[in-house]
Amino acid sequence: MKLTIIGTGYVGLVTGTCFAEVGHHVVCVDNDAAKVKILQAGGLPIYEPGLEDLVRKNVAADRLSFTNSTAEGVEKSDVIFIAVPTPPQPDGSVDMSFIERVAREIAGAMTSYKIVVDKSTVPVKTGDQVAETIKRYCKTKVEFDVVSNPEFLREGFAVDDLMKPDRIVIGVRSQRPVAAMRQVYEPFNAPIIVTDINSAELIKHASNSFLALKISYINAIAVLCEAAGANVSEVAAGMGMDERIGRRFLNAGIGFGGSCFPKDLSAFIKIAEQIGYDFRLLKEVQRINAEQMDRFVKKITETLWVLKGKTIGVLGLAFKQNTDDVRSSPAIELCQRLLKEGATLRVHDPKAMDKAKAILPGVTYVDDMNAVADGCDALVVATEWDEFKKLDTDRARKALTHPIMFDGRNLFDAAEMEAAGWIYKSIGR
Ligand code: UGA
Repeated sequence: MKLTIIGTGYVGLVTGTCFAEVGHHVVCVDNDAAKVKILQAGGLPIYEPGLEDLVRKNVAADRLSFTNSTAEGVEKSDVIFIAVPTPPQPDGSVDMSFIERVAREIAGAMTSYKIVVDKSTVPVKTGDQVAETIKRYCKTKVEFDVVSNPEFLREGFAVDDLMKPDRIVIGVRSQRPVAAMRQVYEPFNAPIIVTDINSAELIKHASNSFLALKISYINAIAVLCEAAGANVSEVAAGMGMDERIGRRFLNAGIGFGGSCFPKDLSAFIKIAEQIGYDFRLLKEVQRINAEQMDRFVKKITETLWVLKGKTIGVLGLAFKQNTDDVRSSPAIELCQRLLKEGATLRVHDPKAMDKAKAILPGVTYVDDMNAVADGCDALVVATEWDEFKKLDTDRARKALTHPIMFDGRNLFDAAEMEAAGWIYKSIGR
C-alpha cells in the first residue's frame, strides 16, 4: 500500500520505517528542513536500536522516502498518518496546535478520498475535531474518513514493539476505512480491535496511566519494604507470578519519566476534569512519583550529610535504558538536584551524553563508565542500563574516597555488594 506519515519523531519515523519493512511504500513528511536533510543523507536524528539499518535498507529498496512537503505526501498516498507532537501546556492540558495545523494542511492538499489516521497521543474527542477541521478547510469537498490508531511502542524497543505488537487498535466512525486499515496491519499478524474513535483515544491514555500507576504502586510498596525490613524485588517477583498481575513494570526505582507517562498522566487528569471527573487516583500516582525522587535525594544527603564540596559519580542520564532521550529524565532531575545542593558531578551515559550536554552544563562527562568513580565520594545509579551491571565494581570501590553506592534502579545484588565492602543503598531492599 502507499502510506504517508506526517511527523518523523520517535513514533512517526519508526512507524514509517516498519511499514516500509513489511512491504508498503512510505513517504515520511516533516516540516523541520534540517531533520529531513539528515534523513535524506542517510543519517538518523534519534538513536533507536535497529532503526538505522532498517531505514537504510528500505530507502535503498525505494520503499521509504522523506520530504518537507505535506502536499506531496497527501498526493502520493490514500492513507495518511498524523504522528506529530502533542506537547503539554503549563496547566497540564495538551497543546493541539500541531495536529490542527496538519489537519488543515491535509485538507488543503486533498483531491481524492483519503483516510486520515491519528497516531499521536491525543485527548478523547480529537477525532471529531480533526474531521471538523478537514471538512472546514477542504476546498474541493472530497470524501475522507478519520481513524484513531494509537501507538504503544516504547522508546528503546520501538522497532521490536512495532514489528511484534500486542494489539492494533483501530477507532472508526464508519466501516468504510476498516478494510484498508486491516490491510495496512495484515503483515504484522497481530490481534486487531476495532472500536469507535472515542474509545480508541481513551485506550491509549488509559493504558499509559495504568502502567504509570503500576510503577507508582511498586514504588509505594518499596517504601513499605524499607520500613518493614522486606525486599521489594522479592515482593515484585512473587506478585508478578500471578498472571493477572504480571512481573513487567514492577521495577521500583527513582520514578518514571520520559516524554509520555508524565505528560499523559497530566493530560488524562485534565481531560477527566473537563468531562466532569476528578481522577484522584492518578493524582496520587503523580504524587508518589515525585516523592520517590525526594526520598532518594534524602537518602543521599542523609548519608553524605553535606553535599557542598563533595564529588558524586552518576551512571545514567537517559530517562531509561536503550535510548538517548533525556526529556523529563529522572536521572537529569537527580543531577540538577545534587548540583543545587552544591555537589560536583562526574557523569556517564552510554548514549545520552550529547543530548544531556545541552541541558546539563557544569558537570564532567566521562566516556568510560569505569572511570566515573575516580576521585568521587559516592557513586549513584540513575538509569537502568543493562551495561551498568558490567561495571568493574572492584575498581570503582577502590577509586572512590569511600565505597558508597546509591543504586536508584536496583541493578546490583545487595548482599553481594555488602559482602564486597560497599555501603550499598538501593530502593526498597
Ligand atoms: C511508554 C509506554 O510504555 C508505551 O507503551 C507507550 O507507547 C509510550 O509510553 C508512548 O506513549 O509513546 P516509554 O515512555 O518509551 O513508553 O517508556 P517505558 O518503557 O514505558 O518507561 C517509562 C518510564 O518508566 C521510564 O522512566 C522507566 O525507567 C520507568 N519504569 C518503567 C520504571 O520506573 N519501572 C518499571 O518497572 C518500568
